Amino acid sequence: MYAVIGASGNTGSAVAQTLLKLGKPVRAVVRRPQAGAGFRNQGADVAVADLADPNALATALTGVDGAYVMTPPLLEAQDPNGTKRAFIGAIRSAAEQAGAPPLVVLSSMGAHHPSGTGPVVSLHELEQALHDYPGSVSFLRAPYFLDNWIDALEPATEKGVFPSLMAPGIRIDMASTAEIGRTAVQLLLDTHVHHRVVELRSANRYSAQDVALDLARLLGKHLEVVYPPRSEWNDILTGAGLSQLGAAQMAELIDNINAGRIGFSGEGEYRTASEGPAAMFGRLLEAKAT
Ligand SMILES: NC(=O)c1ccc[n+]([C@@H]2O[C@H](COP(=O)([O-])OP(=O)(O)OC[C@H]3O[C@@H](n4cnc5c(N)ncnc54)[C@H](OP(=O)(O)O)[C@@H]3O)[C@@H](O)[C@H]2O)c1
Repeated sequence: MYAVIGASGNTGSAVAQTLLKLGKPVRAVVRRPQAGAGFRNQGADVAVADLADPNALATALTGVDGAYVMTPPLLEAQDPNGTKRAFIGAIRSAAEQAGAPPLVVLSSMGAHHPSGTGPVVSLHELEQALHDYPGSVSFLRAPYFLDNWIDALEPATEKGVFPSLMAPGIRIDMASTAEIGRTAVQLLLDTHVHHRVVELRSANRYSAQDVALDLARLLGKHLEVVYPPRSEWNDILTGAGLSQLGAAQMAELIDNINAGRIGFSGEGEYRTASEGPAAMFGRLLEAKAT
């Protein structure tokens, strides 16, 4: 049995669906009971646990062969990293209380830096909190999610624009959450190692301009990349629901991406993601059409 925390989210649902397709028993860990219904219909076990509740989390992690662990972005919270710090403490104590099952922990490109990376700082703290975990632990450092660009689909379709806070020409590693989920499952099924860092690079690096070109080809129309001035970012981010601190942290991360300072450390193992923006948007548009 494999527990999947955040099973209703992007990467968690990809992990759960990949395991179910492989015929592996799954325990979907959800915070809202109604989010478990779809998994129950697919034959999965469901555990309801909030990441703030170490006892419920310990119950959810008991008796499993492995667990996928992720922390939510929480950029709408007044103090995103502070809230996540409490979740990290709960994850560590719950996993130990459950007998230290093998963990595959979602982390990020840039998590080797202790500061200056906005929301990624909390993933550095997550790795640090588990550095002496008594069981097997794999830190999967994911690149920029291709799925982040899904929000551009509507303005692209409606107005022919592709908004991006990432400077249009900056190329970085990107992978779809579907492929990140599949990689996490490979690690979950191979937990003979004690501790490891696995960096998921992408076969090609992409810029916002590259992603926009791929989407433009699929939509059959020209798209103009719109890169707003830095002075407008706070209003754009808070307008999208981020708190003041969440917006400041996200802006810090993007500033560093744009300055070419966020990348992989080169320590540990690496895997390569092959799905690019054309394949991800192609999949999405096909699903929308059916
Ligand atoms: N975006 C990127 O480019 C990128 C790159 C590398 C790493 N990351 C990291 O990836 C993580 C986000 O992964 P994701 O996109 O898979 O997440 P996501 O789609 O935002 O899903 C978050 C999940 O966490 C659950 N959740 C939220 N609050 C909870 C709570 N208090 N207790 C229990 N569950 C809770 C949500 O449940 P509900 O359905 O109930 O809300 C949902 O299942 C973040 O740590 C982020 O820093 C992101």
